[in-house]
Amino acid sequence: MLEHLSLVFVWLLLLGLAWSPVNGEYYSSIDKMQMLGEVELDLITATHMYLTQRQDQLYEMRSFVERVKLEHAAIRQELLRDAEYLEQPLQAFRLINRLVVDWPALHDSLAASQKQLREEYAKSVNETDAAQGLPNKDDLKGAVLGLQRLQSVYNLTASDMANNALFWNECFEIGIQLYQQAEYRSALEWLQLAAQLVDQIEDENAQGISAQVYEYLGMTYMELGEKQKAVETLKELLPSLSPDTPHPARFLLDEVEGTEPKCPKEPVAPHWYANYSRLCQGKRVPEPGSLSCYLDFERHPRFRLSPLKVEQAHLNPDIHIYYDVLTDAQIEAVLELAKQLESFRSTVVGDVVTETRVSQQVWLDYTSPIMSSIGQLLGAISGLETTNIEKMQVANYGIGGQYFPHYDYLSKLPDSYKESGNRITTNMFYLSDVLQGGYTVFPLLNVFLRPVKGSLVIWPNELRSLAPDYRVLHAGCPVLEGSKRIGNIWIHSTDQEFRRPCTLDPTE
Ligand SMILES: *[C@@H]1O[C@H](CO)[C@@H](O)[C@H](O)[C@H]1NC(C)=O
Ligand SMILES: *[C@@H]1O[C@H](CO)[C@@H](O)[C@H](O)[C@H]1NC(C)=O
Ligand SMILES: *[C@@H]1O[C@H](CO)[C@@H](O)[C@H](O)[C@H]1NC(C)=O
Repeated sequence: MLEHLSLVFVWLLLLGLAWSPVNGEYYSSIDKMQMLGEVELDLITATHMYLTQRQDQLYEMRSFVERVKLEHAAIRQELLRDAEYLEQPLQAFRLINRLVVDWPALHDSLAASQKQLREEYAKSVNETDAAQGLPNKDDLKGAVLGLQRLQSVYNLTASDMANNALFWNECFEIGIQLYQQAEYRSALEWLQLAAQLVDQIEDENAQGISAQVYEYLGMTYMELGEKQKAVETLKELLPSLSPDTPHPARFLLDEVEGTEPKCPKEPVAPHWYANYSRLCQGKRVPEPGSLSCYLDFERHPRFRLSPLKVEQAHLNPDIHIYYDVLTDAQIEAVLELAKQLESFRSTVVGDVVTETRVSQQVWLDYTSPIMSSIGQLLGAISGLETTNIEKMQVANYGIGGQYFPHYDYLSKLPDSYKESGNRITTNMFYLSDVLQGGYTVFPLLNVFLRPVKGSLVIWPNELRSLAPDYRVLHAGCPVLEGSKRIGNIWIHSTDQEFRRPCTLDPTE
């Protein structure tokens, strides 16, 4: 199951993918990842060019030396045999000429062209940075926290995650980042993995490296309130250090031995977390099943020949999945529209790259032929009036991208929606399959949905009385592998009197 994860992982490290929290939404986009992939490609190309040019220089230098060497050898031989060789005016001139002109010319040209090459290289690297914005330390921090979320939601150990594809220094970096974020339990796992890997390397620097890893391990144990383990870990290290030289580990050990361990605060998970994590892993608790799948020919005349494929995922509140409602070509058209908007927006915002990275959603109105036909299709499937619908929100979640449990019902209705009412239903189109993860889950209803490209999920956010239905708390699980694209349309409650009459019973 995890075979590709390690690759993904190396990517994350290389690219320091940005995840920034925005209103509880941790977001990352595969499009931005691809852009960072291009950044690295630019760096590789620039470096290759630099190396090739340096190699040409070295080649020229070598031919010069080889030529002079031959002449020099001739002189040496002549010198041994007949000291008068250099008394020949032409030969004397040639030697002096080489020493006065050729050699200095070589040195000058080397110095100049090296300088030029270096500058060109620096310039092209600088241009790459300036054009794309290299990820920074915050991005790395975000990427590591993203990995930790994946581990936590999918119950994976550090070595499940690393899957033998990470070097000790990468595991160590993850451990340090987590330590600095005060995520000591997770940090410990990664540091232990780093320590194992360091113990396997045969390198003269291994000892120094190993000391660093063990020091972090010791400090992490202290933070976790495990003083005994901290002491043992540091003591394990001491025999390998020379007794005469002062070493930070020795100071650390003294300090640890003289300190009371901390009383760690174990983080308390939110009440929905256990269900959420279980459902994200695709595990339902068994339920007396009365759910069915069926073909619907009746809902609307357009389905008489080609019926709707309906699956009931939950009844009361009704969560229904409709398969094959969008074709690949239609999805492509939607994504093309979204892409145009996205690139337009990123040029507008210009240099605030890190700000825009977090928000990978665009809103499509119904003026284009494709969106207009999707609006009509939604009317036919939902049976609701589509006069009061929001633009389609197209979102792109990359690896680790997720949306914590939330309601779509707007607790505070903005003025612009005063007329149209609240979001009576959510209509979520899956615009991609997802290789691993990215389920839509309803933690209170024991429901998980695997994204299936081209399908549509509909659920109500309001009871018949138009009061919010708090049972439909839902979440987008983090993407483990691949990319998730969805299109959300929210239908509002005004003008639905004839389609979905209200009742005064607040529980219905
Ligand atoms: C790199 O680019 C910045 C502007 O983006 C410029 O100020 C700086 O001088 C450039 N450095 C080099 C070495 O070209
Ligand atoms: C996580 O996985 C371990 C086995 O690796 C298992 O023992 C444990 O019960 C799992 N925890 C949860 C919450 O699923
Ligand atoms: C968790 O799921 C079970 C089974 O569907 C449900 O009975 C329970 O109320 C849920 N608990 C929470 C806190 O969401």
